[in-house]
Amino acid sequence: MHPRGFRDELVSAAQWVAEYLEQLPSGPVTRPLPAALRERLRAGGMSEQGGDLFGVLDFAEESLAPYPTGNGHPAFFAWINSPPAPAGVIAELLATAINATCGMGEHALMDLERGVISDLARLAGLADSTGGVLTSGGSMANLLCLAAARHWFLAERGAEDGPEYDAAQSRLVAYCGEQTHMSVAKACAVIGIPRSRLRVIATTAERCMDVPALAEAIRADLEAGLLPFCVVSNLGSTPTGAVDIPEPITAVCRANGMWHHADGAWGGLGARVPRWADAFRGIAEIDSLTVDPHKTLSVPVGCGAALVTDPGRLRAAFGVRASYLEGNENLPWMSEYTFELTRPGTRALALWATLHQLGRAGVTNLLEHYDRMAAYLRERVEQHPRLRLLPCGPLPVVCFQVRDIDSHADLAAAVQARGRAYLATVDYDGETVLRACICNHRTGTAHIDTLIDEIISLAEEFDQTATSRG
Ligand SMILES: Cc1ncc(COP(=O)(O)O)c(C=O)c1O
Repeated sequence: MHPRGFRDELVSAAQWVAEYLEQLPSGPVTRPLPAALRERLRAGGMSEQGGDLFGVLDFAEESLAPYPTGNGHPAFFAWINSPPAPAGVIAELLATAINATCGMGEHALMDLERGVISDLARLAGLADSTGGVLTSGGSMANLLCLAAARHWFLAERGAEDGPEYDAAQSRLVAYCGEQTHMSVAKACAVIGIPRSRLRVIATTAERCMDVPALAEAIRADLEAGLLPFCVVSNLGSTPTGAVDIPEPITAVCRANGMWHHADGAWGGLGARVPRWADAFRGIAEIDSLTVDPHKTLSVPVGCGAALVTDPGRLRAAFGVRASYLEGNENLPWMSEYTFELTRPGTRALALWATLHQLGRAGVTNLLEHYDRMAAYLRERVEQHPRLRLLPCGPLPVVCFQVRDIDSHADLAAAVQARGRAYLATVDYDGETVLRACICNHRTGTAHIDTLIDEIISLAEEFDQTATSRG
Protein backbone atom coordinates (compact mmCIF):
# COMPACT_ATOMS: atom_id res chain seq x y z
CA MET A 1 0.00 0.00 0.00
CA HIS A 2 1.25 3.47 -0.83
CA PRO A 3 1.70 5.60 2.34
CA ARG A 4 -0.32 8.43 0.78
CA GLY A 5 -3.23 6.06 0.28
CA PHE A 6 -3.22 5.25 3.99
CA ARG A 7 -2.96 8.92 4.98
CA ASP A 8 -5.80 10.00 2.67
CA GLU A 9 -8.05 7.25 3.90
CA LEU A 10 -7.28 8.06 7.52
CA VAL A 11 -8.18 11.71 6.94
CA SER A 12 -11.41 10.67 5.21
CA ALA A 13 -12.25 8.39 8.12
CA ALA A 14 -11.55 11.16 10.65
CA GLN A 15 -13.75 13.59 8.72
CA TRP A 16 -16.49 11.02 8.51
CA VAL A 17 -16.29 10.40 12.29
CA ALA A 18 -16.58 14.12 13.07
CA GLU A 19 -19.60 14.54 10.76
CA TYR A 20 -21.24 11.36 12.00
CA LEU A 21 -21.05 12.42 15.65
CA GLU A 22 -22.15 15.96 14.81
CA GLN A 23 -25.24 14.84 12.89
CA LEU A 24 -26.20 11.97 15.15
CA PRO A 25 -28.70 13.87 17.35
CA SER A 26 -30.71 15.09 14.33
CA GLY A 27 -31.41 11.59 12.98
CA PRO A 28 -33.50 8.73 14.40
CA VAL A 29 -32.21 7.10 17.58
CA THR A 30 -31.90 3.84 15.70
CA ARG A 31 -33.37 2.06 12.68
CA PRO A 32 -34.36 -1.55 12.08
CA LEU A 33 -31.66 -3.53 10.30
CA PRO A 34 -32.97 -4.64 6.86
CA ALA A 35 -33.32 -8.42 6.69
CA ALA A 36 -31.10 -8.74 3.61
CA LEU A 37 -28.28 -6.82 5.25
CA ARG A 38 -28.59 -8.89 8.42
CA GLU A 39 -28.26 -12.04 6.34
CA ARG A 40 -25.22 -10.65 4.53
CA LEU A 41 -23.48 -9.64 7.78
CA ARG A 42 -24.12 -13.00 9.35
CA ALA A 43 -23.00 -14.98 6.35
CA GLY A 44 -19.30 -14.02 6.53
CA GLY A 45 -17.70 -14.69 3.14
CA MET A 46 -14.27 -13.09 2.83
CA SER A 47 -12.80 -12.83 -0.65
CA GLU A 48 -9.81 -14.76 -1.91
CA GLN A 49 -7.79 -11.79 -3.13
CA GLY A 50 -8.62 -9.06 -0.62
CA GLY A 51 -10.04 -5.60 -1.31
CA ASP A 52 -9.27 -1.90 -1.25
CA LEU A 53 -8.42 0.03 1.89
CA PHE A 54 -11.20 2.52 1.22
CA GLY A 55 -13.71 -0.30 1.26
CA VAL A 56 -13.46 -0.22 5.06
CA LEU A 57 -14.95 3.25 5.46
CA ASP A 58 -17.60 2.58 2.80
CA PHE A 59 -18.63 -0.61 4.59
CA ALA A 60 -18.86 1.05 8.02
CA GLU A 61 -20.78 4.01 6.61
CA GLU A 62 -23.32 1.98 4.64
CA SER A 63 -23.75 -1.23 6.58
CA LEU A 64 -23.03 -0.49 10.25
CA ALA A 65 -23.37 3.17 11.24
CA PRO A 66 -27.06 3.57 10.27
CA TYR A 67 -28.03 0.69 12.58
CA PRO A 68 -26.51 1.38 16.03
CA THR A 69 -27.90 0.46 19.45
CA GLY A 70 -28.76 4.12 19.67
CA ASN A 71 -26.68 5.01 22.71
CA GLY A 72 -24.91 7.86 20.93
CA HIS A 73 -28.24 9.68 20.64
CA PRO A 74 -29.33 12.09 23.40
CA ALA A 75 -32.89 10.67 23.37
CA PHE A 76 -31.61 7.16 24.21
CA PHE A 77 -32.60 6.19 27.75
CA ALA A 78 -32.36 2.40 27.72
CA TRP A 79 -29.71 0.68 29.87
CA ILE A 80 -26.63 2.46 31.12
CA ASN A 81 -24.96 3.02 27.79
CA SER A 82 -23.25 6.32 27.08
CA PRO A 83 -22.20 8.07 23.88
CA PRO A 84 -18.45 8.20 23.21
CA ALA A 85 -16.54 11.17 24.68
CA PRO A 86 -14.85 13.09 21.83
CA ALA A 87 -11.44 12.94 23.57
CA GLY A 88 -11.88 9.19 23.93
CA VAL A 89 -12.61 8.74 20.22
CA ILE A 90 -9.38 10.51 19.26
CA ALA A 91 -7.40 8.67 21.92
CA GLU A 92 -8.59 5.24 20.76
CA LEU A 93 -7.23 5.90 17.28
CA LEU A 94 -3.88 7.09 18.65
CA ALA A 95 -3.51 4.15 21.04
CA THR A 96 -4.36 1.73 18.26
CA ALA A 97 -1.49 3.13 16.20
CA ILE A 98 0.93 2.80 19.15
CA ASN A 99 -0.52 -0.71 19.68
CA ALA A 100 1.38 -1.37 22.94
CA THR A 101 0.13 -4.22 25.06
CA CYS A 102 -0.47 -3.15 28.64
CA GLY A 103 0.39 -6.60 29.95
CA MET A 104 4.12 -6.92 29.49
CA GLY A 105 7.32 -4.94 28.95
CA GLU A 106 7.93 -1.52 30.39
CA HIS A 107 6.45 1.29 28.34
CA ALA A 108 4.68 4.59 28.68
CA LEU A 109 1.12 3.32 28.19
CA MET A 110 1.43 0.89 31.09
CA ASP A 111 2.62 3.71 33.36
CA LEU A 112 -0.28 5.79 32.09
CA GLU A 113 -2.63 2.98 33.14
CA ARG A 114 -1.10 3.04 36.64
CA GLY A 115 -1.68 6.80 36.71
CA VAL A 116 -5.31 6.76 35.56
CA ILE A 117 -6.09 4.00 38.05
CA SER A 118 -4.85 6.33 40.82
CA ASP A 119 -6.92 9.19 39.40
CA LEU A 120 -10.05 7.02 39.33
CA ALA A 121 -9.45 5.82 42.89
CA ARG A 122 -9.11 9.42 44.10
CA LEU A 123 -12.23 10.46 42.19
CA ALA A 124 -14.16 7.65 43.87
CA GLY A 125 -12.87 8.64 47.32
CA LEU A 126 -10.97 5.40 47.96
CA ALA A 127 -7.95 4.98 50.24
CA ASP A 128 -4.61 6.37 48.93
CA SER A 129 -3.13 2.86 48.84
CA THR A 130 -5.59 1.80 46.09
CA GLY A 131 -4.36 0.20 42.87
CA GLY A 132 -5.86 -2.06 40.25
CA VAL A 133 -6.35 -2.56 36.54
CA LEU A 134 -8.51 -1.45 33.67
CA THR A 135 -10.82 -4.14 32.33
CA SER A 136 -13.20 -4.72 29.44
CA GLY A 137 -16.07 -3.58 31.68
CA GLY A 138 -17.88 -4.02 34.96
CA SER A 139 -18.48 -7.76 34.57
CA MET A 140 -14.77 -8.45 34.29
CA ALA A 141 -13.97 -6.03 37.14
CA ASN A 142 -16.46 -7.81 39.41
CA LEU A 143 -14.86 -11.13 38.49
CA LEU A 144 -11.31 -9.91 39.26
CA CYS A 145 -12.34 -8.43 42.61
CA LEU A 146 -14.25 -11.53 43.67
CA ALA A 147 -11.33 -13.74 42.66
CA ALA A 148 -9.00 -11.53 44.74
CA ALA A 149 -11.43 -11.71 47.68
CA ARG A 150 -11.60 -15.49 47.52
CA HIS A 151 -7.82 -15.87 47.24
CA TRP A 152 -7.20 -13.47 50.16
CA PHE A 153 -9.77 -15.24 52.35
CA LEU A 154 -8.34 -18.70 51.67
CA ALA A 155 -4.73 -17.48 52.09
CA GLU A 156 -5.60 -15.95 55.48
CA ARG A 157 -6.63 -19.45 56.57
CA GLY A 158 -3.66 -21.25 55.01
CA ALA A 159 -6.06 -22.84 52.52
CA GLU A 160 -4.67 -21.69 49.17
CA ASP A 161 -3.92 -25.22 47.97
CA GLY A 162 -3.97 -28.91 48.82
CA PRO A 163 -6.54 -30.64 51.05
CA GLU A 164 -7.11 -27.40 53.03
CA TYR A 165 -8.22 -25.72 49.80
CA ASP A 166 -10.52 -28.59 48.87
CA ALA A 167 -12.13 -28.51 52.29
CA ALA A 168 -12.60 -24.72 52.36
CA GLN A 169 -13.65 -24.01 48.75
CA SER A 170 -16.80 -26.10 49.01
CA ARG A 171 -17.93 -24.11 52.08
CA LEU A 172 -17.37 -20.54 50.79
CA VAL A 173 -20.44 -18.29 50.80
CA ALA A 174 -20.90 -14.86 49.15
CA TYR A 175 -23.70 -12.33 49.82
CA CYS A 176 -25.36 -9.74 47.62
CA GLY A 177 -28.61 -7.74 47.50
CA GLU A 178 -31.78 -8.37 45.50
CA GLN A 179 -30.82 -5.55 43.13
CA THR A 180 -27.36 -6.93 42.35
CA HIS A 181 -26.29 -7.04 38.70
CA MET A 182 -26.32 -10.51 37.18
CA SER A 183 -22.57 -10.31 36.44
CA VAL A 184 -21.99 -11.02 40.15
CA ALA A 185 -23.66 -14.42 39.86
CA LYS A 186 -21.58 -15.11 36.75
CA ALA A 187 -18.37 -14.09 38.54
CA CYS A 188 -19.27 -16.35 41.48
CA ALA A 189 -19.84 -19.26 39.11
CA VAL A 190 -16.40 -18.74 37.55
CA ILE A 191 -14.66 -18.79 40.94
CA GLY A 192 -16.55 -21.91 41.98
CA ILE A 193 -19.37 -20.45 44.07
CA PRO A 194 -22.64 -22.01 42.87
CA ARG A 195 -25.97 -20.18 43.09
CA SER A 196 -26.84 -22.12 46.22
CA ARG A 197 -23.94 -20.42 48.04
CA LEU A 198 -24.62 -16.90 46.76
CA ARG A 199 -27.09 -15.58 49.33
CA VAL A 200 -29.48 -12.94 48.02
CA ILE A 201 -30.26 -10.60 50.91
CA ALA A 202 -33.59 -8.78 51.05
CA THR A 203 -33.70 -5.05 50.48
CA THR A 204 -35.36 -2.26 52.49
CA ALA A 205 -38.17 -0.02 51.26
CA GLU A 206 -35.43 2.23 49.78
CA ARG A 207 -34.17 -0.81 47.85
CA CYS A 208 -30.91 -0.95 49.80
CA MET A 209 -29.42 -4.08 51.30
CA ASP A 210 -31.07 -4.87 54.63
CA VAL A 211 -27.95 -4.86 56.85
CA PRO A 212 -29.47 -6.63 59.89
CA ALA A 213 -30.74 -9.35 57.49
CA LEU A 214 -27.20 -9.62 56.07
CA ALA A 215 -25.70 -9.99 59.56
CA GLU A 216 -28.29 -12.64 60.42
CA ALA A 217 -27.61 -14.64 57.22
CA ILE A 218 -23.88 -14.62 57.95
CA ARG A 219 -24.48 -15.71 61.53
CA ALA A 220 -26.67 -18.62 60.37
CA ASP A 221 -24.08 -19.73 57.80
CA LEU A 222 -21.26 -19.64 60.36
CA GLU A 223 -23.37 -21.71 62.70
CA ALA A 224 -23.89 -24.23 59.89
CA GLY A 225 -20.11 -24.56 59.49
CA LEU A 226 -19.91 -22.55 56.24
CA LEU A 227 -17.31 -19.87 55.36
CA PRO A 228 -18.80 -16.44 54.58
CA PHE A 229 -16.02 -14.65 52.66
CA CYS A 230 -17.41 -11.67 50.75
CA VAL A 231 -20.30 -9.20 50.58
CA VAL A 232 -21.08 -7.46 47.28
CA SER A 233 -22.92 -4.16 47.75
CA ASN A 234 -24.32 -1.77 45.13
CA LEU A 235 -23.23 1.80 44.54
CA GLY A 236 -25.93 2.47 41.98
CA SER A 237 -28.15 -0.57 41.48
CA THR A 238 -28.98 -1.39 37.88
CA PRO A 239 -32.79 -1.64 38.20
CA THR A 240 -33.50 1.49 40.27
CA GLY A 241 -30.29 3.42 41.04
CA ALA A 242 -30.27 2.57 44.77
CA VAL A 243 -27.09 2.92 46.82
CA ASP A 244 -26.07 0.61 49.71
CA ILE A 245 -24.32 2.87 52.24
CA PRO A 246 -20.85 1.28 52.52
CA GLU A 247 -20.14 2.02 56.20
CA PRO A 248 -22.49 -0.45 57.95
CA ILE A 249 -21.76 -3.21 55.43
CA THR A 250 -18.00 -2.83 55.95
CA ALA A 251 -18.61 -3.04 59.71
CA VAL A 252 -20.38 -6.40 59.24
CA CYS A 253 -17.51 -7.59 57.02
CA ARG A 254 -14.84 -6.55 59.52
CA ALA A 255 -16.69 -8.23 62.40
CA ASN A 256 -16.67 -11.49 60.43
CA GLY A 257 -13.26 -11.38 58.71
CA MET A 258 -14.87 -10.83 55.29
CA TRP A 259 -14.15 -8.74 52.18
CA HIS A 260 -16.44 -5.90 51.14
CA HIS A 261 -16.67 -5.45 47.37
CA ALA A 262 -18.84 -2.60 46.06
CA ASP A 263 -20.21 -2.75 42.53
CA GLY A 264 -20.13 0.88 41.44
CA ALA A 265 -20.03 0.08 37.72
CA TRP A 266 -22.04 3.18 36.92
CA GLY A 267 -22.42 4.89 40.30
CA GLY A 268 -18.95 4.39 41.77
CA LEU A 269 -17.92 8.04 41.43
CA GLY A 270 -21.16 9.30 43.01
CA ALA A 271 -19.48 10.55 46.20
CA ARG A 272 -18.44 13.58 44.14
CA VAL A 273 -22.02 14.83 43.96
CA PRO A 274 -22.91 16.68 47.19
CA ARG A 275 -26.57 15.57 46.96
CA TRP A 276 -25.54 11.89 46.86
CA ALA A 277 -22.44 12.05 49.08
CA ASP A 278 -24.10 10.87 52.29
CA ALA A 279 -25.13 7.60 50.64
CA PHE A 280 -21.44 6.92 49.91
CA ARG A 281 -20.43 7.24 53.58
CA GLY A 282 -17.48 4.95 54.38
CA ILE A 283 -16.35 4.35 50.79
CA ALA A 284 -12.69 4.83 51.79
CA GLU A 285 -12.84 1.68 53.96
CA ILE A 286 -14.17 -0.87 51.45
CA ASP A 287 -11.83 -3.51 50.03
CA SER A 288 -12.59 -3.19 46.33
CA LEU A 289 -14.70 -1.25 43.87
CA THR A 290 -15.87 -1.80 40.32
CA VAL A 291 -16.14 1.36 38.22
CA ASP A 292 -16.99 1.53 34.53
CA PRO A 293 -15.54 4.64 32.88
CA HIS A 294 -17.44 3.52 29.75
CA LYS A 295 -20.71 4.22 31.57
CA THR A 296 -20.97 7.57 33.35
CA LEU A 297 -17.70 9.04 32.03
CA SER A 298 -18.49 8.17 28.39
CA VAL A 299 -15.08 6.64 27.68
CA PRO A 300 -15.64 4.52 24.54
CA VAL A 301 -16.51 0.87 25.29
CA GLY A 302 -14.97 -1.23 26.77
CA CYS A 303 -13.33 0.44 29.67
CA GLY A 304 -14.01 -0.78 33.20
CA ALA A 305 -11.81 -0.75 36.29
CA ALA A 306 -11.16 -3.08 39.21
CA LEU A 307 -9.89 -0.97 42.12
CA VAL A 308 -8.49 -2.74 45.17
CA THR A 309 -7.38 -0.86 48.28
CA ASP A 310 -4.54 -3.35 48.82
CA PRO A 311 -3.46 -4.08 45.22
CA GLY A 312 -1.07 -6.74 46.52
CA ARG A 313 -4.19 -8.89 46.98
CA LEU A 314 -4.95 -8.71 43.26
CA ARG A 315 -1.36 -9.67 42.54
CA ALA A 316 -1.58 -12.54 45.02
CA ALA A 317 -4.51 -13.92 43.01
CA PHE A 318 -3.14 -13.32 39.50
CA GLY A 319 0.64 -12.90 39.75
CA VAL A 320 1.55 -16.18 38.08
CA ARG A 321 5.05 -15.76 36.61
CA ALA A 322 6.77 -17.56 33.73
CA SER A 323 10.37 -17.70 32.52
CA TYR A 324 9.43 -16.09 29.21
CA LEU A 325 7.82 -13.13 30.98
CA GLU A 326 10.16 -12.00 33.72
CA GLY A 327 9.32 -8.39 34.57
CA ASN A 328 10.70 -6.28 37.37
CA GLU A 329 9.78 -7.93 40.68
CA ASN A 330 9.42 -4.53 42.35
CA LEU A 331 7.36 -2.92 39.60
CA PRO A 332 5.24 -5.81 38.32
CA TRP A 333 3.66 -5.69 34.88
CA MET A 334 -0.08 -5.11 34.80
CA SER A 335 -0.68 -8.70 33.68
CA GLU A 336 0.24 -9.76 37.23
CA TYR A 337 -2.91 -8.02 38.50
CA THR A 338 -5.43 -9.49 36.08
CA PHE A 339 -6.41 -12.47 34.00
CA GLU A 340 -5.35 -10.93 30.67
CA LEU A 341 -1.79 -10.92 29.36
CA THR A 342 -2.07 -9.07 26.06
CA ARG A 343 -4.17 -6.03 26.97
CA PRO A 344 -5.11 -3.01 24.88
CA GLY A 345 -3.58 0.39 25.59
CA THR A 346 -6.72 2.02 24.19
CA ARG A 347 -8.43 1.84 27.61
CA ALA A 348 -5.69 3.78 29.40
CA LEU A 349 -5.29 6.49 26.77
CA ALA A 350 -9.04 6.91 26.18
CA LEU A 351 -9.64 7.22 29.94
CA TRP A 352 -6.70 9.60 30.35
CA ALA A 353 -7.93 11.76 27.45
CA THR A 354 -11.48 11.90 28.83
CA LEU A 355 -10.28 12.80 32.34
CA HIS A 356 -7.80 15.28 30.88
CA GLN A 357 -10.60 17.08 29.05
CA LEU A 358 -13.04 16.99 31.97
CA GLY A 359 -10.80 17.70 34.95
CA ARG A 360 -12.08 16.87 38.44
CA ALA A 361 -14.64 19.68 38.31
CA GLY A 362 -15.84 18.46 34.91
CA VAL A 363 -16.47 14.97 36.29
CA THR A 364 -18.61 16.44 39.07
CA ASN A 365 -20.46 18.69 36.60
CA LEU A 366 -21.18 15.73 34.36
CA LEU A 367 -22.66 13.66 37.21
CA GLU A 368 -24.66 16.66 38.37
CA HIS A 369 -26.00 17.10 34.85
CA TYR A 370 -27.32 13.51 34.92
CA ASP A 371 -28.85 14.22 38.34
CA ARG A 372 -30.59 17.38 37.05
CA MET A 373 -31.95 15.57 34.00
CA ALA A 374 -33.26 12.70 36.16
CA ALA A 375 -34.92 15.24 38.48
CA TYR A 376 -36.57 16.89 35.47
CA LEU A 377 -37.83 13.54 34.17
CA ARG A 378 -39.20 12.58 37.61
CA GLU A 379 -40.97 15.93 37.77
CA ARG A 380 -42.51 15.46 34.32
CA VAL A 381 -43.70 11.97 35.27
CA GLU A 382 -45.18 13.18 38.55
CA GLN A 383 -46.99 16.04 36.86
CA HIS A 384 -48.64 13.90 34.18
CA PRO A 385 -51.99 12.40 35.23
CA ARG A 386 -51.43 9.32 33.07
CA LEU A 387 -48.01 8.50 34.59
CA ARG A 388 -47.01 7.11 37.96
CA LEU A 389 -43.50 7.51 39.37
CA LEU A 390 -42.11 4.54 41.31
CA PRO A 391 -39.60 4.92 44.14
CA CYS A 392 -36.14 5.04 42.52
CA GLY A 393 -32.76 6.76 42.80
CA PRO A 394 -30.94 8.59 44.24
CA LEU A 395 -28.82 7.88 41.16
CA PRO A 396 -30.22 8.88 37.75
CA VAL A 397 -32.55 5.99 36.95
CA VAL A 398 -36.27 6.73 36.65
CA CYS A 399 -38.82 3.91 36.94
CA PHE A 400 -42.45 4.61 36.12
CA GLN A 401 -45.74 3.20 34.88
CA VAL A 402 -48.42 4.34 32.46
CA ARG A 403 -51.86 4.00 34.01
CA ASP A 404 -54.38 1.72 32.25
CA ILE A 405 -51.95 0.11 29.86
CA ASP A 406 -51.88 -3.63 29.17
CA SER A 407 -48.19 -4.13 28.48
CA HIS A 408 -45.28 -1.82 29.24
CA ALA A 409 -43.05 -4.12 27.19
CA ASP A 410 -45.24 -3.52 24.10
CA LEU A 411 -45.27 0.20 24.81
CA ALA A 412 -41.46 0.37 25.12
CA ALA A 413 -41.11 -1.64 21.88
CA ALA A 414 -43.45 0.82 20.12
CA VAL A 415 -41.41 3.79 21.38
CA GLN A 416 -38.23 2.11 20.14
CA ALA A 417 -39.75 1.34 16.73
CA ARG A 418 -40.78 4.96 16.09
CA GLY A 419 -37.13 6.02 16.52
CA ARG A 420 -37.64 9.43 18.17
CA ALA A 421 -36.72 8.23 21.66
CA TYR A 422 -35.66 4.90 23.13
CA LEU A 423 -36.24 3.36 26.55
CA ALA A 424 -36.47 -0.13 28.01
CA THR A 425 -38.28 -1.95 30.79
CA VAL A 426 -37.31 -3.54 34.07
CA ASP A 427 -38.87 -5.97 36.51
CA TYR A 428 -40.09 -3.97 39.52
CA ASP A 429 -41.52 -6.06 42.35
CA GLY A 430 -42.64 -8.65 39.83
CA GLU A 431 -44.15 -6.18 37.36
CA THR A 432 -42.65 -4.99 34.08
CA VAL A 433 -42.38 -1.19 34.19
CA LEU A 434 -40.65 1.53 32.15
CA ARG A 435 -37.09 2.49 33.11
CA ALA A 436 -35.08 5.46 31.82
CA CYS A 437 -31.37 5.82 32.60
CA ILE A 438 -29.59 9.13 32.15
CA CYS A 439 -25.94 8.92 31.20
CA ASN A 440 -25.53 11.08 28.09
CA HIS A 441 -23.85 14.48 28.33
CA ARG A 442 -25.89 15.66 25.32
CA THR A 443 -29.28 14.81 26.84
CA GLY A 444 -31.28 17.97 27.54
CA THR A 445 -34.81 18.74 28.73
CA ALA A 446 -36.06 18.76 25.10
CA HIS A 447 -35.05 15.09 24.71
CA ILE A 448 -36.88 14.22 27.92
CA ASP A 449 -39.95 16.08 26.63
CA THR A 450 -39.75 14.01 23.44
CA LEU A 451 -39.64 10.82 25.50
CA ILE A 452 -42.74 11.80 27.49
CA ASP A 453 -44.59 12.90 24.32
CA GLU A 454 -43.80 9.60 22.62
CA ILE A 455 -44.98 7.54 25.59
CA ILE A 456 -48.24 9.47 25.95
CA SER A 457 -49.08 9.55 22.25
CA LEU A 458 -48.42 5.83 21.89
CA ALA A 459 -50.44 5.05 25.02
CA GLU A 460 -53.35 6.97 23.40
CA GLU A 461 -52.91 4.98 20.18
CA PHE A 462 -53.00 1.78 22.25
CA ASP A 463 -56.26 3.03 23.87
CA GLN A 464 -57.83 3.64 20.47
CA THR A 465 -56.83 0.21 19.20
CA ALA A 466 -58.30 -1.38 22.33
CA THR A 467 -61.54 0.64 21.93
CA SER A 468 -61.96 -0.26 18.25
CA ARG A 469 -61.32 -3.93 19.06
CA GLY A 470 -63.53 -3.69 21.98
C1 LIG B 1 -24.18 -2.34 38.56
C2 LIG B 1 -23.57 -2.99 37.34
N1 LIG B 1 -22.56 -3.86 37.49
C3 LIG B 1 -21.98 -4.47 36.45
C4 LIG B 1 -22.40 -4.23 35.18
C5 LIG B 1 -21.73 -4.93 34.03
O1 LIG B 1 -20.88 -4.04 33.38
P1 LIG B 1 -20.37 -4.31 31.90
O2 LIG B 1 -21.57 -4.29 31.04
O3 LIG B 1 -19.44 -3.17 31.66
O4 LIG B 1 -19.68 -5.63 31.89
C6 LIG B 1 -23.45 -3.34 34.96
C7 LIG B 1 -23.95 -3.08 33.59
O5 LIG B 1 -24.86 -2.33 33.36
C8 LIG B 1 -24.06 -2.70 36.07
O6 LIG B 1 -25.09 -1.85 35.92
